[in-house]
Amino acid sequence: MTVVSNLSSGLDSASGSPSASSFGDAAQPESKSDLDPGLYDRVKRVIPPLEWAIHAPLIQEINRLKRERDAVVLAHNYQTPEIYHGVADIVGDSLALARKAVTAEAKVIVLAGVHFMAETAKLLNPDKIVLMPDLEAGCSLAASITGADVRALRVRYPGVPVVAYVNTSADVKAETDICCTSGNAVEVVESLGCDRVIFLPDRYLAAYVAGQTKVEIIPWAGQCEVHERFTGAEISEYAARHADLTVLAHPECPPDVLKVADFVGSTARMVEFVHKRRPTKVLLVTECSMSDNVAVECPDVEFVRPCNLCPHMKRITLTKIRESLISLTPRIEIDPAVAERARRSVERMIAVGR
Ligand code: 13P
Ligand code: SF4
Repeated sequence: MTVVSNLSSGLDSASGSPSASSFGDAAQPESKSDLDPGLYDRVKRVIPPLEWAIHAPLIQEINRLKRERDAVVLAHNYQTPEIYHGVADIVGDSLALARKAVTAEAKVIVLAGVHFMAETAKLLNPDKIVLMPDLEAGCSLAASITGADVRALRVRYPGVPVVAYVNTSADVKAETDICCTSGNAVEVVESLGCDRVIFLPDRYLAAYVAGQTKVEIIPWAGQCEVHERFTGAEISEYAARHADLTVLAHPECPPDVLKVADFVGSTARMVEFVHKRRPTKVLLVTECSMSDNVAVECPDVEFVRPCNLCPHMKRITLTKIRESLISLTPRIEIDPAVAERARRSVERMIAVGR
């Protein structure tokens, strides 16, 4: 993790927290280290020169602001390459971001991802400022279920524990027993030692988990608007056109897609697979930007790509991150009564597999 502390320049002396007014005219000049001179050489495979001319000054300014604000940027694997490679201090899947949020040493966390990820970071860091550069960055899975829905499920299935994918609101997490991510879903379900569990809200992840365990899975009918668009027929067509193609799929994809995949795993597991196994040609059946990000790190691998973008992830831009660091808004705030119960669910998940 690369967090550069510069607490003396941007702090509110009364509260000890960075103040919006303390930045601006008194801004420090950029230092050369705010823009790695070798960065463009690494990312030029996925960022054209004209775009880089716009991104480079923003990257430099954001890296300076991070030092001034004692801020750290946590970015999901689906963020665009200029964010992922240019300003992120920690990158990863939902599980890694949740885990790293606990140990983040900075006073300010900027979440380059979607709203539920920022809420999770805030649950685990109640005393820190958690910034979400665009509060409208939602998720079709999180939007598919409410806390009241979970209470109704508990009435319908008395005594059956509820496992919630982290792609849910804090309100929903507060009504559940434990959270999971795509990286630990089977482990979490089995950790409960029960014959049946309610698993929400992703019907496809639920189907995948049901195929990996003897525990009976009662699903909810939510789906990811990005992964549900892939079809088995489409992926088979790519495989027919590229004889040496390795297909890696995210478990949020429909079952016919997973059936034709060579490997199924969370975004972090897919990244790890490409890094370690170095397939000649790979198709990552997931959000499009991830292929760009891994392509930068593995220039010897050819990426074949059907490009499905997540409109929510794409709401986060360098300009919005910059604005957020200047104004120290928008901040994530969670009702303390909800937060206490939701935090328990996330912490139980983090304790599994420790
Ligand atoms: P992971 O990165 O945890 O696999 O999740 C994928 C996703 O869709 C997050 O929004
Ligand atoms: Fe939600 Fe799917 Fe976008 Fe992830 S990719 S944030 S699951 S809509």
